[in-house]
Amino acid sequence: MFNLNADEALNRLSEPKGPHEVASDKYSPFVEKLLELLVVEGSVVGCNKSLTALVDINATWAAEELIPNSIRASQGIFFTGDKIAEKIARSLSVDISKCSSFFDPSCGAGNLLLAIAKSYPLKGNVLDTLKVWGLKFGGCDLNESFVLATKLRLIALAFQRHGLYRVPKDELEGYLNLFKMFEVGDYLESNLGSDFDCIVANPPFGHIVVPEGLEWSSGRTQQAGVFIAKILDIAKTCQKLTAVLPDVLRSGTRYEKWRRRIENQTSILSLDVHGRFSKSVDVDVFILSLMRDFKADNPLISEKWQPAKTKLSSKCVKLSTFFEVRVGPVVPHRLLGAGVSAPYLTAHNSPAFSVVAKLPKINFNGTLYAPPFVVVRRTSSPSDKFRLVPSLVKGNKLVAVENHLLILKPRDGSLEKCLLLMEELRTQKINDWVNAVSRCRHLTTKTLADIDIVRDRYDQCSL
Ligand SMILES: C[S@@+](CC[C@H](N)C(=O)[O-])C[C@H]1O[C@@H](n2cnc3c(N)ncnc32)[C@H](O)[C@@H]1O
Repeated sequence: MFNLNADEALNRLSEPKGPHEVASDKYSPFVEKLLELLVVEGSVVGCNKSLTALVDINATWAAEELIPNSIRASQGIFFTGDKIAEKIARSLSVDISKCSSFFDPSCGAGNLLLAIAKSYPLKGNVLDTLKVWGLKFGGCDLNESFVLATKLRLIALAFQRHGLYRVPKDELEGYLNLFKMFEVGDYLESNLGSDFDCIVANPPFGHIVVPEGLEWSSGRTQQAGVFIAKILDIAKTCQKLTAVLPDVLRSGTRYEKWRRRIENQTSILSLDVHGRFSKSVDVDVFILSLMRDFKADNPLISEKWQPAKTKLSSKCVKLSTFFEVRVGPVVPHRLLGAGVSAPYLTAHNSPAFSVVAKLPKINFNGTLYAPPFVVVRRTSSPSDKFRLVPSLVKGNKLVAVENHLLILKPRDGSLEKCLLLMEELRTQKINDWVNAVSRCRHLTTKTLADIDIVRDRYDQCSL
């Protein structure tokens, strides 16, 4: 479709460039292809087939083909697929029909704005439509090619929706100049978008080191969380925000403070646990819709984040009532060969749903665990048949446990409780509960500690 060999663009580099400039250069063959499809020399006769191709063009596929994975990962360049973009546009249909203004702080090639513009009201002619759209749509991205692609795609869409053919070359510059609300740059260093009626966002999902003194996090944290906090800090009253976010912000223990902050600044309009972001990106996401609200008198609404966390039935207790939950303390690459010799349990030598057999030995000078106990693999996905994959450790030797395992140790040392737990952890009820509470690939001790188990079964068993 276009020249995928973007190395030419890279060869043009005269001096070392930052990753966003490289990404922008790599994407430029796609922008050239957009221009080729959009623009015609001279009169505008012919069919509008090429504009239809342009409007339907797969900007996401182009980014995946043209920009190396390492650069996409470092900047969170994972464009929103049609399904999620259409879902968001549908949820904003009232705002769209009212001609509200929309800003995307990390707009990429404009997938979210395009989905909105597909049903955005038109004026009597294409110029008037573009004059209005130029004021009603805005965005920002680190990558220049992405911002240009967004504007070109909006222009193409307006032309196509007016039943027009291609854009005369000498008019294109004028149309591009109408889109004054777009900027190339770092959104986190700007104050852009605060006056818009609605913000739509699929911010980068990488990690950044937050500045000291940030009250809701320290050290490395989710960049998407930083984006949302920034959007809300500068938002005008009643500004709406709809964002695609990684599940860890909804379910992760370390983002509890972030969630409280959001609750204090907004009314939560809806929260949709969507599932996997796309076929090629194995991260589960949710779609959060908020309204900036300065009253800040919202009651605690944590059940909105994790709807499955309903009150315990009187027949159930939390797993932590009977079991202590710990992360295995052995970090394999930090083993120094010092300490006592002990059997070494890893995710590889823990047989699923059965009893651990003979183990190799290592020297370890950290905490060892006395059997009986259950271990659960720390990593699993909501798409796995069993979210919790337990193994039982018996015997009388202290065991060194790898940090890819979570340890569930009966508080009273009862083997029978371990056997009951092994059975209960594979039930569909618990599977569904864990998936509803957290769709992150890494299970946390808190998620496991909070599981409801049937009290009677454990009350009755002996040592
Ligand atoms: C997950 S993509 C989403 C793009 C687009 N909103 C969409 O939905 O398809 C995130 C985008 O954020 C951009 N980005 C990363 N860091 C940024 C920053 N600090 N300021 C502005 N844009 C940034 C990346 O270039 C990328 O295009």
